[in-house]
Amino acid sequence: MCGIVGVVGNVDTKNILINGLCRLEYRGYDSAGIFLAEDNQLYKAVGPLKKLQEEVPADAAGTLGIGHTRWATHGKATLENTHPHTSQSGRFVLVHNGVIENYRQLKETLLADDIFYGQTDSEVAVHLVEYFVNQGFTVPAAFLQTLNKIEGSYAFGLIDTQTPDTLYAAKNKSPLLVGLGGDFSLIASDALAVLDQTKNFLEIKDGEMVILQKDSVEIFDLAGQPVARQPFVTQLDANDLDKGAYPYYMIKEIAEQPSVVRKIIQQYLIEENYVAPALKEVIHEADHLYFVACGTSWHASRVGAKYFEEMAHIPATALLASEAGYRMPLLSARPVFIFLSQSGETADSRQVLVRVKELGYPTITLTNVLGSTLARESDFALPLLAGPEIAVASTKAYTAQVTVLACLAQQFARQNEKFDLAHELSLVATAMDTVITEQETLNLLVADYLTEQRNAFYIGRYLDYEVSLEAALKLKEISYVQAEGFAAGELKHGTIALIEEGTPVFAVITDPVTASHTRGNMEEVKSRGARLFSLVSESLANDDDTFVLPNVHPLLTPILSIVPAQLIAYYATLQRGLDVDKPRNLAKSVTVE
Ligand code: F6R
Repeated sequence: MCGIVGVVGNVDTKNILINGLCRLEYRGYDSAGIFLAEDNQLYKAVGPLKKLQEEVPADAAGTLGIGHTRWATHGKATLENTHPHTSQSGRFVLVHNGVIENYRQLKETLLADDIFYGQTDSEVAVHLVEYFVNQGFTVPAAFLQTLNKIEGSYAFGLIDTQTPDTLYAAKNKSPLLVGLGGDFSLIASDALAVLDQTKNFLEIKDGEMVILQKDSVEIFDLAGQPVARQPFVTQLDANDLDKGAYPYYMIKEIAEQPSVVRKIIQQYLIEENYVAPALKEVIHEADHLYFVACGTSWHASRVGAKYFEEMAHIPATALLASEAGYRMPLLSARPVFIFLSQSGETADSRQVLVRVKELGYPTITLTNVLGSTLARESDFALPLLAGPEIAVASTKAYTAQVTVLACLAQQFARQNEKFDLAHELSLVATAMDTVITEQETLNLLVADYLTEQRNAFYIGRYLDYEVSLEAALKLKEISYVQAEGFAAGELKHGTIALIEEGTPVFAVITDPVTASHTRGNMEEVKSRGARLFSLVSESLANDDDTFVLPNVHPLLTPILSIVPAQLIAYYATLQRGLDVDKPRNLAKSVTVE
């Protein structure tokens, strides 16, 4: 979603801002803008960042600036709503990520005489700063007053055009980091945006304000008291952000999956690095595990819940965060909550985390970003080790989540039911390699299945049903084919009415117990005109199956069978002439509820 970059110091401000915003592009946006203090110039454009680049003169420069990519929430994607926003007199300039919940009330009370140019909640914040300065407060005090008046989430970058050596920032529930460069200081909503400038960062916590100059950074709490904080060096590598020889991030990330699985085997099973005794104790005490997640991470949670029930005999339920945030189910006596989130910033999931902490239950987060909000606010955080995932459609984070959950569940299995998980997962990694080398076959096989079709189905039973949900999401989010993942046996209870001549139905069959039943369902849809595409494990395959998967342990098939489905979505999207990495309307990190 929205992205922020800001910089002060003796550096190429314009290029740091523009390049930083380009690196945040993958998160989704529909307009962008920058402000350069020396020029006192605001540049904005609706649409792709290259439009903004065309707006900014080649010789524009300065030692202080802020930039923003906006994913529209309050108000359409127009120039008026594009950040940065200015105060009534134009003295203050601000960028904002998050949602100011009481913005209407502030507009109607303290700011009733002000003129607003757009519909955003954000514009209120910069007007408020000026309001308090006009009341006689110094700029830092006025900013603190503003923060204390605002209800909601924010990451702010603020410039006072009268002090071009100072950048102000603040954070509450929206991500923001400070970068330290020696003779410059930065702010960014994601370290990835400025990794080419520095690897030294300062964490900013909720309810903190920061004053940055080129060689100093001061942090304050909302009462104005100074806060001490040690910098850290990020482990992220700027090279991870390159597409390398791949045409798209999505195919690069699909191809990285076998090595991610191997890394997890090494770190979780061989070196036993992450699952601390205290965390084990917490899960041992649980009488029910509640997984909380959204989208792809929810699909991975559903597989994980089955792993805990099958392998560890611990009852488990996967909750949709956007539902659980409002109505928690009747909980067991000793619940433990496990949050799954690639980004660690998803607002729906965080909302549940806040509630669960109020209730006093233990919390664990599995995430790809250990410094993220969910990771920091949970009692325990476990890394997915997938490396940065840039393509909007999640691929390697899903397989990493399921793999880590298998490793975790196995820890609680009865001794006589344990199997050699490291060995079985290494077979999965090899099988993934095999499928990935057959990507051109899948490209050809799917060639005329989805180019014209508006609808498609993925069907399967048990774990194959779980994979069908994720496979259908992959297809619909990037190719815009309306795809449904369905429990194969459930189709005949109504939805089979949608099957007509040529409707593509993809059947996933890896479970020996339910294979013959799913085959029966394939016959039912075939006789109603469906065009079948089967993804079947070798030991269950017939001569007329479309794509055969190497055999792996029956519990681990979701980590493998999703790979051809990811490739099908990828190629179907290219065949339809669409951008696989940046689908319409979507954001990589969904920081609004
Ligand atoms: C789909 C996708 C989304 C995310 C969802 C949760 O490809 O990426 O469905 O899984 O928005 O995001 P995280 O995992 O960051 O909490």
